[in-house]
Amino acid sequence: MTTTALVVAAGSGSRMGGGIPKQFRTIAGKPVLRWAVESLIHHPAVKTVRVVIGAGQEESAAAALQGLNVGDLIEGGAERSDSVRAGLNAVEADALLIHDAARPFCPSEVIDRLLASLEFFEGGAPVLPVRDTLARIGDTLGDPVERTGLVRVQTPQAFRLRSLMSAYDQWSGESPTDETTVLRAAGMRVAAVDGDPALEKLTVQFDFDRAEQWVSGRLSPRTGMGFDVHAFAGPGPIMLGGVEVAHERGLAGHSDADVVLHAITDALLGAAGLGDIGQHFPPSDPLWKGAASALFLNHAAGLVRQKGATIDHLDCTVIAEAPRIGPHRDAMRARIAEIAGVSVGQVSVKATTTEGLGFTGRREGIAAQAVASIRMGF
Ligand code: CTP
Ligand code: MG
Repeated sequence: MTTTALVVAAGSGSRMGGGIPKQFRTIAGKPVLRWAVESLIHHPAVKTVRVVIGAGQEESAAAALQGLNVGDLIEGGAERSDSVRAGLNAVEADALLIHDAARPFCPSEVIDRLLASLEFFEGGAPVLPVRDTLARIGDTLGDPVERTGLVRVQTPQAFRLRSLMSAYDQWSGESPTDETTVLRAAGMRVAAVDGDPALEKLTVQFDFDRAEQWVSGRLSPRTGMGFDVHAFAGPGPIMLGGVEVAHERGLAGHSDADVVLHAITDALLGAAGLGDIGQHFPPSDPLWKGAASALFLNHAAGLVRQKGATIDHLDCTVIAEAPRIGPHRDAMRARIAEIAGVSVGQVSVKATTTEGLGFTGRREGIAAQAVASIRMGF
């Protein structure tokens, strides 16, 4: 049985307001749509994930999904069910999972339960019990509604694709809010499997605040270290921490030889387990000859954030007899903060001599060490 997942992301997020549709807003730096797609792509049974977006959302969607294998984006319609139908016409599979982009966190156990249910049913949906008192509302509170036997229905929902297609062909009602409605109207049976609070849909700002907190509780602190050396050669000035510093001697190097930015870049890559600066910017590649090291650091910070990580702090030590760092410290902190996309308070620049000992003591070159503190999921 091949399983495809269809993520509907063509809504405008009108209840949320604020311009950007909610599926393109970020939680812990990662777009909601990307969270949703990744949670499906990572399931071993899911072969393909396709995404339905609204007209004019191509750019936001491409940015949110960069690097993920989702094939061509599908254009949706005015109502959610129109978007689902557009998706149905574009996919092929035995089993189909239909999921709201607005539910960013899908536990893989829910997918296990849904796919297992397809062995005996034409469709399956995750459900959660209703815990509050339910009542009708008019000008004042109306009659209570008996909640025994009621559940809340979530997505993803699983279907045998052929069954759902034929159910939609028979559907003559208004826009259904989900597909179990359509399947049942065609006389087919839908399994109810245990849902999960993590699948709660994001509708208003409060949901985003709660999701942000939930994710941050699942991030663990990680630390990376970086070290770099460049030898003095030729005349100055030199680049240190993204700032030009007057010095009688220059630094030799393939790029602009900014030891401080190189050490911080390596520290960031190290914290996120992303290899080292040489891997990302090979000195053998003419593309990086004379490159501003700001580019390296900026790129590394982007990669770290793409992994859903938050950069908490960058600390570095310059090891040199000269030049004196003190007069440039504030400018360096500000520039490093700007390049890495953090605030000045999250950057520290220190300096030391080695009391005349070793290669830095002999004024043969400058060394720099850095430590990056980030928070990241596993
Ligand atoms: N959706 C869709 N096509 C539509 C409407 C909604 O693909 N025409 C998607 C949304 O992007 C969302 C899911 O269906 O992932 C659930 O819809 P909902 O929570 O209602 O999202 P919006 O319609 O965007 O929000 P609102 O109703 O507040 O405008
Ligand atoms: Mg809607």
